Amino acid sequence: MKVVIGADHGGFELKEFLKNNFEYTDISWIDVGTYSAESCDYPLIADKVAETILNKQADIGVLICGSGIGISIAANRHKGIRAALLYSDEIARLSKEHNNANVAVFGARTQSRDDVVKYLTTFLNTPFSNGERHCRRIEELG
Ligand code: RB5
Repeated sequence: MKVVIGADHGGFELKEFLKNNFEYTDISWIDVGTYSAESCDYPLIADKVAETILNKQADIGVLICGSGIGISIAANRHKGIRAALLYSDEIARLSKEHNNANVAVFGARTQSRDDVVKYLTTFLNTPFSNGERHCRRIEELG
């Protein structure tokens, strides 16, 4: 599975941690930055992750900023991107089953590494339910 990952300076360390420590069968990372802890702007990182997915160069995205909020807002401005801020294991599961989310978002300043690893594992392991009502609602998103 190809996973494109991006973070602003607030999420830089968590991004590096995930790339080096997250164990999952057959995962390859595309890292679109940022590449240091120097201050940068989260909308530009969200744009890169969104474009990588929309261009079909990756299957799934991971985005990280300090709170997870700004980078979620930015990612969801792209048609075809469904970015979900994962704050519990149940939400990680539902975001795939019901919403077919294609980007998992985390807040590096508000979430523990253990929780992030747990929620990301659930997210990657959960398929979209493909239920008629869920397909219709996703279609309605445009
Ligand atoms: C950066 O300081 C911080 O504002 C950003 O990472 C994020 O939390 C914005 O929503």
